Amino acid sequence: MAKSIFITGGTTGIGFDLARLYLEEGCRVAVTGRSLSKLPSGAREKYPNLVAYELDVQDKEGMENAINDFAKSGLDVVVANAGRSVGEKNDIPDFVGGSDVIQTNVQGVLNTFGPSLKIMIPQRSGQIVGIASVAAFVGLPGASFYCASKAAVEKMMETWAIDLKQFNVASTCICPGFIDTPLTQQNKHPMPFIMPAEKGARLIKNAIDKRKSLYIFPWQMKCVITILNKMPRWLYRLIMGSSVGNYRR
Ligand SMILES: NC(=O)c1ccc[n+]([C@@H]2O[C@H](COP(=O)([O-])OP(=O)(O)OC[C@H]3O[C@@H](n4cnc5c(N)ncnc54)[C@H](OP(=O)(O)O)[C@@H]3O)[C@@H](O)[C@H]2O)c1
Repeated sequence: MAKSIFITGGTTGIGFDLARLYLEEGCRVAVTGRSLSKLPSGAREKYPNLVAYELDVQDKEGMENAINDFAKSGLDVVVANAGRSVGEKNDIPDFVGGSDVIQTNVQGVLNTFGPSLKIMIPQRSGQIVGIASVAAFVGLPGASFYCASKAAVEKMMETWAIDLKQFNVASTCICPGFIDTPLTQQNKHPMPFIMPAEKGARLIKNAIDKRKSLYIFPWQMKCVITILNKMPRWLYRLIMGSSVGNYRR
């Protein structure tokens, strides 16, 4: 039977490219987004197995209704992909924007996996996938809220990989470096090793299919972030501190 895949924030960027790969395999796929006008034109006609819900991940009840509705015909993989950054980096913390980043990137993940696990645990099968970031492993200058939100996702996924194994539910955490999407197209800072969204989506799907617990890519960014994560924190502050003031608005 065709697999059923639910992807939040699947109207554009990484989420849509991932949805497309599953649709081309014959899966049933649901995508969500606050504005369905972001879906590429003709997508719904081209892919009859595509279901779309116009929905904010911060809407707890709406998320539960959508997941329950889609799951009537099965639920195999749920990808908590919807996320936002703060836009421009800023070394004076923006607590209003920051609060929205935490609500979307962390509470949105809870609103996605809460109803999903109510289905997957009793059915004794399924996979939850959190799209975190390499930013989960360090406190990057000017991006405190984004790094904190992704660290929270990475740690929850790590715990759930242990807790949910007994129910045959896999937990997969994806930590991409830079991927060329509408989100990163706003960035003004350098983005080393950036890759096209289609390639990123293929690598992500491969890690999901293998039910990996943690997948950090590309390898060059994995090396950089591992070194930054493991180095003495005084040295990290010294190196990263050289950018202080660069991000003031
Ligand atoms: N691109 C990268 O380099 C990169 C690197 C590491 C991690 N990531 C993570 O990967 C995920 C996808 O990023 P992307 O680059 O593909 O971003 P994107 O191109 O901006 O797409 C984001 C998607 O999420 C949806 N979305 C945003 N806020 C939402 C909300 N509150 N409720 C429901 N849907 C929402 C957007 O649709 P609407 O705006 O219409 O809601 C859109 O479909 C994010 O979690 C991001 O943090 C990206």
